[in-house]
Amino acid sequence: MTRRTVVKVALVSLGVAALAAGVGAAAGAWGEDPQPPVAAATVSWEGVLTAPTAASTFAAPSADEPPAAEPTPVAPQPPAFDLARHPTGDPASPWVVVNKQHPVPAEYVPADLVDVAPGVQLRADVAPDLTAMIDAAAPAGARLGILSGYRSYQDQAATRAAIEARRGFDHAERYSARPGFSEHQTGLAVDLGSTTQPGCDLHTCFAQTVEGAWLAEHAWEFGFVVRYTEANTDVTGYAPEGWHLRWVGRELAAHLHTSGIGSLEEAFGVPGGPVYAGG
Ligand code: DAL
Ligand code: ZN
Repeated sequence: MTRRTVVKVALVSLGVAALAAGVGAAAGAWGEDPQPPVAAATVSWEGVLTAPTAASTFAAPSADEPPAAEPTPVAPQPPAFDLARHPTGDPASPWVVVNKQHPVPAEYVPADLVDVAPGVQLRADVAPDLTAMIDAAAPAGARLGILSGYRSYQDQAATRAAIEARRGFDHAERYSARPGFSEHQTGLAVDLGSTTQPGCDLHTCFAQTVEGAWLAEHAWEFGFVVRYTEANTDVTGYAPEGWHLRWVGRELAAHLHTSGIGSLEEAFGVPGGPVYAGG
């Protein structure tokens, strides 16, 4: 082989090696699984292709030895919401669940009732959040009135009897708790009205008033839940009441809102439904 021939062969061979390296790099850029690098053949000055030696060859990883991956950083998780912070079976607890299966003792009277409107009382912790909510609603055109708060066992008995007399037993069962089974007896529930459309007060159309719509969207920000909704009727045992707000505190209300939990029964795993305990 003449010297010119040797150089020519060497240049052609170098081109082949460079092409192979280029293809490898491009394949890697497509995000395929990493492949073991192929040892390139070397070309001597004499234009002789030299096969890779055993020592220069990479061993392919075995099936049970995957290529080491970068450790995935683990984002710090917020602590899980503690639903056991307050009991659900104590009428004085901010998280008490009262429904047709879980009554309030007839003699229970909250110890810290305060006036929130003429003739209307609520637990002391509820009042500041109620005031803040009513004040926040006004600039949006939602002019909330306070219709009813704490009702004693006797008050609830009278309320229920009046509704039953006017609308019948079946209607009363869907809209008015029997005495001893009302959240109003805890001092944590309040009925709000629409000053702009008072004709819808305590009626289903309240949900369509500017006040009802505002409450459905914002009550949670102030620690309240709309207790009886279209979606939770089977669970609570009551028809939707867009006006009946239950105070649970801002932390729980925010937790229920962000996690999409539609009732206290579902949040705490407390049975409810349309059937009264004791029949
Ligand atoms: N309206 C609700 C269900 C009550 O009477 O407590
Ligand atoms: Zn109510």
